[in-house]
Amino acid sequence: MYVLGIETSCDETSAAVVKDGVDVLSNVIASQIDIHSKFGGVVPEVASRRHVELILPTVQEALDKASCTLADIDVIGAINRPGLIGALIVGAASAKTIAYGAGIPLVAVHHLEAHIYANFLTGTLISFPLVCLIVSGGHSDIVLMSDHGDYRILARTRDDAAGEAFDKCARAMGLGYPGGPLVDKLAREGDPHKVDSPRGRVGDTLDFSFSGLKTAVIRYTQAMPDGVAMADVAASFQQAVVDVLVDHTFQAVEETGVKQVLLAGGVAANSALQAAFRTRAAEVGVAVSMPPPVLCTDNAAMAASATYFGYERGQTAGLDMDCYASEPLGKR
Ligand code: KG4
Ligand code: ZN
Repeated sequence: MYVLGIETSCDETSAAVVKDGVDVLSNVIASQIDIHSKFGGVVPEVASRRHVELILPTVQEALDKASCTLADIDVIGAINRPGLIGALIVGAASAKTIAYGAGIPLVAVHHLEAHIYANFLTGTLISFPLVCLIVSGGHSDIVLMSDHGDYRILARTRDDAAGEAFDKCARAMGLGYPGGPLVDKLAREGDPHKVDSPRGRVGDTLDFSFSGLKTAVIRYTQAMPDGVAMADVAASFQQAVVDVLVDHTFQAVEETGVKQVLLAGGVAANSALQAAFRTRAAEVGVAVSMPPPVLCTDNAAMAASATYFGYERGQTAGLDMDCYASEPLGKR
């Protein structure tokens, strides 16, 4: 089964063709980073307008690269929630138009579900039940997934998302946008134990809190003491985030007794987080999966994979499919 996936939830216009939910035939990602970086972050209205310009050429390129035409596509899926509303509408309206014009069934995809399904594109065998840490610019959730489409949120962030903390701290360190990859790179040259960095805990829950750490980094950089390099600040901040993410996730693994753990979302591209996840999984003897960096950050191949598995469960959307800026995954 050939699925055309569409993703426009933030600042990437992406279209992909995926076979049987697991084989990526094409995954075209038109990034808008250059346009937004001069503003230090994504400008929603600018993003929407750029999606309008890019979406049809991006879809065409994805079909061409997969050596397909619309006649070969069996299902079309678009991320319709959560995300920047104007940006989502461009992808969803395009998907509806193509679905109606070409007579192809349509599926509405949850953004975080798509991030999870990036793991099904890696060729790794994945077994249920599993625990997945989803960390992106807008979310930091620990999810218990008992089967395809069955989600229970075990933890979320009480304030900033992990990616948001990376981006805001990167700005305080004088790095560009998006901050995550730049902090990741700079941290390799720094000492992760040099700068005292708070690890937030919310009572006895597994919820996250990154605002204290963010404030500490901003204050620290404003009064940069002699003998400390910015790379030390980056490494110490990153270590604090990684420690908290790994500790909470593996506590959830222990409490639920699952034998499989997944990493997903843009921050999952972080090299220190990936390494710490692999090490801890090996220590406790659970199977681990994480997408390669290009499938961690927003892309349409993950949307196409989630579409395939959703369609298999009988999910389809009508032409009245709407978009939502926020909507949780599963039930808490
Ligand atoms: O999933 P995503 O592409 O978009 C959202 O759904 O938000 O995630 C983007 C976030 C940004 O905050 C970005 O700084 C972060 O992922 N990110 C990283 C890395 N690559 C992207 N954070 C840490 N290390 C990275 N290598
Ligand atoms: Zn995302």
